[in-house]
Amino acid sequence: MPAAPPALERAGGSSVRCVLYREGAAAVEARLPAEPLRYEAPRGDGADKPLLEVRDLSVRFPIRKGLLQRVAGAFTAVDGVSFDIPSGRTLALVGESGCGKTTTGKAIVQLLRRRGDRRAGAVPGPGSLRARRRGAAPARRAVQIVFQDPFGSLDPRMRVFDILEEGLVALRPELDAVQRRERLHTLVDQVGLRRDALQRYPHEFSGGQRQRIAIARALAVEPRLIVCDEPTSALDVSVQAQILNLLRELQRDTGVSYLFITHNIGVVEYIADRIAVMQRGRIEEAGSVEQVLGAPRSDYTRTLLAAVPRIAVQAE
Ligand SMILES: Nc1ncnc2c1ncn2[C@@H]1O[C@H](COP(=O)(O)OP(=O)(O)OP(=O)(O)O)[C@@H](O)[C@H]1O
Ligand SMILES: [Mg+2]
Repeated sequence: MPAAPPALERAGGSSVRCVLYREGAAAVEARLPAEPLRYEAPRGDGADKPLLEVRDLSVRFPIRKGLLQRVAGAFTAVDGVSFDIPSGRTLALVGESGCGKTTTGKAIVQLLRRRGDRRAGAVPGPGSLRARRRGAAPARRAVQIVFQDPFGSLDPRMRVFDILEEGLVALRPELDAVQRRERLHTLVDQVGLRRDALQRYPHEFSGGQRQRIAIARALAVEPRLIVCDEPTSALDVSVQAQILNLLRELQRDTGVSYLFITHNIGVVEYIADRIAVMQRGRIEEAGSVEQVLGAPRSDYTRTLLAAVPRIAVQAE
């Protein structure tokens, strides 16, 4: 029998035995100041409070060198980012490729879910006390993500019914099979697909339809926030508009908030209330859409704007 790998002491007093373990090998290392994320369930009394506050969020990736892939430093992909997202509103996060938008979105999803595991009381809905006792599922429900690539993000071996039902089974265990079926029917109606779509496989749909399925999957568990990471950039222009319309309607009907990540400033005016412009891991400029697009303060925002044809809206 091979010898067990040696026990390695870790920071914080724990130890680990694993042939694959390397100190500092975590893929994402988020620096967490005292309160990097505050997630407030919307309540009747504090309607103007933000749903999500992000404070000084940083994400660093280890840089590896040589044959042994030793850690030889760290690359800071997100560097002290702060913003708020009010309930039922959309914050657009824009910036050039590689500036850290996806990393920010993913860090928020991961941190909220992890944080939810510890403090499941901070979840929406009237059931927060029950949630504390029952565990993490309601906190994980609160935030969902829709990815850019509608072709890669759906399991090709699963029928749409099973793709949508999966999240419900995990995060809404109180629903029985009949209630789940009803919920799925409502969902496909909401996202504009026919009910027979439920019996089909992802490859039988167009890109736009697949993105509708991905949106339905995110919506299934009634989240408070959806991180939309370039949800329309793989689609052609007319289909882009349909998906943007759908997202707006869903926001109006359900009160969901969006963190809308895009490098296309042209769609921002249409979808967002506020905008944060990101460059090299930092927020360069933030404010209302009219303010930032109408009178940009930073040169970088002006450069981004100059690169995009925009429709001038004239006051009547
Ligand atoms: N797992 C990882 N390991 C190491 N570096 C990474 C990892 N993920 C992202 N990065 C780096 O972090 C930086 C930010 O990447 P990110 O994907 O957040 O950019 P982005 O703004 O979403 O760009 P795009 O518009 O092209 O999607 C990039 O320089 C990228 O190479
Ligand atoms: Mg990205």
